[in-house]
Amino acid sequence: MVIETDITRMLGIKHPILSAPMGPFYTTKLTVAVSEAGGLGVLSHVTVHGTVTLDEMKKSMEYVVEHTDKPFGFNIRTARLQPDAIKLCRQLPKFIMENPRIKEQCVYLITSAGSPRLMYNKHYEKLKESGSNIKHFHVAPSLYLAQKLIDTGVDGLVITGTEGGGHQSYENISTLVLLQRIMKSLPNVPIIASGGYATGEGLASALSMGVGAIAMGTRFISTKECEFHDNYKKIVVESSASDTELKTGIFGPARVWKNKLADNHNLVESKEEKQAAETSMAKVERELAELERTYEGKIEEGVAFLGQSAELIDSVECVSDIINNIVFDAERCLTTAFNNIKKIPIEQII
Ligand SMILES: Cc1cc2nc3c(=O)[nH]c(=O)nc-3n(C[C@H](O)[C@H](O)[C@H](O)COP(=O)(O)O)c2cc1C
Repeated sequence: MVIETDITRMLGIKHPILSAPMGPFYTTKLTVAVSEAGGLGVLSHVTVHGTVTLDEMKKSMEYVVEHTDKPFGFNIRTARLQPDAIKLCRQLPKFIMENPRIKEQCVYLITSAGSPRLMYNKHYEKLKESGSNIKHFHVAPSLYLAQKLIDTGVDGLVITGTEGGGHQSYENISTLVLLQRIMKSLPNVPIIASGGYATGEGLASALSMGVGAIAMGTRFISTKECEFHDNYKKIVVESSASDTELKTGIFGPARVWKNKLADNHNLVESKEEKQAAETSMAKVERELAELERTYEGKIEEGVAFLGQSAELIDSVECVSDIINNIVFDAERCLTTAFNNIKKIPIEQII
């Protein structure tokens, strides 16, 4: 069973499902599994274990093409406080261009948490000119930003609402409301919906609005292939939506699992307050250390990003089973909905 959309055609994938980037953690094996299953696996911007990110991102790309011949993508967080963002935006396109196999398979780049403009440099331009099919998407958490992003020349948008795991926007708009705004205002823009998706019902609702694909983070944590610690997978399975809350993260509000550490984090209410709080890299370092503790399995002592979609997840499964079931259920939902609609000719009503 295949559902073809503008996004599946654009990225050359079988199913309209992507894994969402989940830095600073590794999602390299997860990327392989998602791409192998017909979706698009996306490498995260890794910074755990004091890594030199550029080298780690290169190694991850090499690993992916050694283990699958399917397309894949990667994320760069271009936030002002992201120390390696400029380097990655320049050096990764150069690396991709120099590696024919990676160049062929790397079809998607998602920038987030900052400006997409860091990507508009000579190396990226050369990569595009050299025949790469790479498409550049950026995360848009509001209509205002979506319009601005389109004007900068991105190929498409990832629309993320407040129910999603990890960093979110100050607007606090749900994916459903945001999508309705975006689909009306920007009907011809390739859109990937993210935040709150974990089921075929969710995929069907996105497709019915004209969205080309969904990207899932929380659902893919709880998979056999994901390299996250078993303790992390356990909280995904055991948590409900109300076990998550918005707290202030490194780049603004972040949806996290409620634990003792989250209780001690204040929620900064406005962008102005947040900018005032961004005084030093010390805060970034501290929060990275908190995330790292989670990655090592010390869930109670660390920060665990978690979306409300945990409500919908009650098992650790294989990536291919998840993707196949979601596609199957989405098709069933769409068929049922179509059959339920009674198309009565207008003259019979009057
Ligand atoms: C553990 C975790 C880490 C995340 N890290 C990033 C990141 O580095 N870059 C990014 O753009 N989004 C990041 N996100 C957000 C996801 O890409 C995505 O927007 C979110 O997971 C979607 O909601 P869902 O969890 O309900 O699927 C992260 C989310 C999680 C759960």
